[in-house]
Amino acid sequence: MASPLDLNNIQGDILKGFPKKTETFYFFRIDDNRVKEFREQLTELVPLITTTNQIKDDRRKIDENKKKGAERQHGPPKLLKMCGVGLSFSHKGLEKIGIRDDIGDANFKDGMLADAKDLGDQGSFSSDKFDPDWIPEFKEEIHGLIQVAGDCHDTVKDKLEEIKDIFSVGDDDATIHKVFRVTGDIRPGAHKGHEHFGFLDGISDPAVQGVDTNPLPGQETIRQGIILLGREGDEFNRPPWAVDGSFLAFRYLPQRVPEFNAFLKNNAIPIPDPSKPPELGMELLGARLVGRWKSGAPVDISPLGDDKALAKDPNRRNDFRYDPLSQERCPFAAHIRKTNPRSDLDSTEANRIIRRGIQYGPEVSAAEAATKRTTKDRGLLFACYQSNIANGFKFIQQSWANRVDFPFGKPIDPGFDPIIGPNQ
Ligand code: HEM
Repeated sequence: MASPLDLNNIQGDILKGFPKKTETFYFFRIDDNRVKEFREQLTELVPLITTTNQIKDDRRKIDENKKKGAERQHGPPKLLKMCGVGLSFSHKGLEKIGIRDDIGDANFKDGMLADAKDLGDQGSFSSDKFDPDWIPEFKEEIHGLIQVAGDCHDTVKDKLEEIKDIFSVGDDDATIHKVFRVTGDIRPGAHKGHEHFGFLDGISDPAVQGVDTNPLPGQETIRQGIILLGREGDEFNRPPWAVDGSFLAFRYLPQRVPEFNAFLKNNAIPIPDPSKPPELGMELLGARLVGRWKSGAPVDISPLGDDKALAKDPNRRNDFRYDPLSQERCPFAAHIRKTNPRSDLDSTEANRIIRRGIQYGPEVSAAEAATKRTTKDRGLLFACYQSNIANGFKFIQQSWANRVDFPFGKPIDPGFDPIIGPNQ
């Protein structure tokens, strides 16, 4: 029998998620001539990596702080200073530091560039090789990623500086070099928790057996091995050092918000009832594309109008099962139905992921809104964890979101995912 989970040995972001207002992703390359020094310096970074138990403790402190704030009734409590650190290696990174064991995941081994075509990314062919239109740095050799999340930019900056100092970044004897650095921020004010199109995100992640012991109504409980390597539900033999790790999939996903809004306006669903507000048609279209109203209320429960009380209620907002033969309430192609078809399939467990993304880029400016054209880059730094990339992120994108006939067996072809489909 497998040993019980040691929450001090599992990176905190995987099962509990860094509490964060901001997060920096620092992709790095290990210096070819300083691998030995890098390995030695790693021992200094390890104690800084945030464990699951630390995050549990941080979240308890946040809850206490909120309670105290509510008791004092002095407006929102002051944010606690908090910081989370994570570390991941690519396959090339592991090889670089001399780890050559077969970790048992072909997609991880082949690297992200090899997947670009399968994922439906735009790009061109040069001598039979697919060249995606990615930010050029992502096509370079990347050995690892350091994630630093926290309550504010200063906290994150200080921690990242501390980490960079370990590896003498910027000095002649630097053991790692930056390939790409990007910072995401939770959106301000009332937009908190909403992605850039305006929809509340982070509502539906699965509960993990033995970890999330009080799942919310409608929240699926999955075996630990769907997310963690070497646990029940993970089908592969993993080297002992990899047990309780997880594969992180990262995507830099720009969102053209003014254009999206213009699309909703130009294609608003006609509402015959004149007593309804004129924006309802466009709001309804957006809600049917996503499967939830901007508030987070699911259209499967509230199909014709938003329901703010439902959206706020964790005990109700995830508690629905699709009617496999009907899209009257929720379209077959709605983003949340394509990416987690729930009762459309007998089981979705093997294809569940845990999402930990964050928004990047500024709010839409008045000029962008007026011209309906994006001039500043913004979007989602999508990040998710799973024990098997082919079953998790890649499967959801390639076999569900991008396939027009999924969910299968419907009276009509559902079409691709309108939020993340390949748009071809
Ligand atoms: C810019 C790109 C994206 C946007 C704007 C977006 C937006 C959203 C929103 C608003 C929700 C509803 C909130 C929730 O249920 O937590 C959601 C859910 C979800 N998204 Fe995305 N998403 C994006 C990319 C992706 C990608 C790339 C994947 C995976 C390939 C994905 C997988 C999921 C899953 C699994 C759910 C939960 C569905 C459920 O359990 O009902 N999303 N997304």
